[in-house]
Amino acid sequence: MAKFIHEGDQKKKYVKQMFNDISSTYDIINIISSFGIDRYWRYKLVNKIKMTSGQKLLDVATGTGDVAFGFYKKYDIKVIGLDIAKKMISIARNKAKKYSKNIEFIVGDAEKLSFEKKSFDALTISFGFRNIGTYDKALSEFHRVLDNNGKIAILEFSKPTSKWFSPIFEFYFKKIIPLIGSILSRKDAYLYLPESVDYFLERKDVCDKMKKAGFSNVSYTDFTFGVVTLYTGEKVE
Ligand SMILES: C[S@@+](CC[C@H](N)C(=O)[O-])C[C@H]1O[C@@H](n2cnc3c(N)ncnc32)[C@H](O)[C@@H]1O
Repeated sequence: MAKFIHEGDQKKKYVKQMFNDISSTYDIINIISSFGIDRYWRYKLVNKIKMTSGQKLLDVATGTGDVAFGFYKKYDIKVIGLDIAKKMISIARNKAKKYSKNIEFIVGDAEKLSFEKKSFDALTISFGFRNIGTYDKALSEFHRVLDNNGKIAILEFSKPTSKWFSPIFEFYFKKIIPLIGSILSRKDAYLYLPESVDYFLERKDVCDKMKKAGFSNVSYTDFTFGVVTLYTGEKVE
């Protein structure tokens, strides 16, 4: 039985408060709990979307901004990182102090973006999609703010595909990570994490929702025995 709410506005409220509360230890727990592999997964995302000078990218659910910084450093483009949790955004803004004004972090809701239609050439979301209250609302907003031929990339946890790796991962994800979380942060946050992956959509359902929102050329690639999946698509009008 579920301990947490996995849909709708109550989920959104819980998630927002939780990320505000865990913001100060978010980066360090990511590195410790994934042995640094989280950086490799984000690197894969940044390398998947090719940008050219003068283009604009929106990183939704940016958290402390690592994907936004990845794109900013790789390409000469304007990058906006958006997140619902104010304290995650203030950490991203602190990290951004050493860069020029071409990278910006704002507080906002993925389900109701405050941008004109066709504002961006690419939109990314890493480990954020699963946390959104209503996936269809967010996907339709992502489609709206992307320009024609705009690219979308969603990086998200999945259920591992490897039979021998699954039980090892399950033990680590459900027992060890919550233990690390309980020592360094808000314990329920790291109990919510594995449960939210259990309650998340299957790969095919993510692709179907992306297509339903209007995206074309939707496909996905798994990494690390299927622990993480990168979904990509395009707005073709
Ligand atoms: C696991 S963190 C991922 C942060 C970052 N993208 C990364 O790769 O580390 C999930 C983020 O999603 C944000 N989030 C959840 N629901 C959101 C929503 N409706 N709109 C914007 N951000 C949201 C949370 O506040 C949190 O910072």
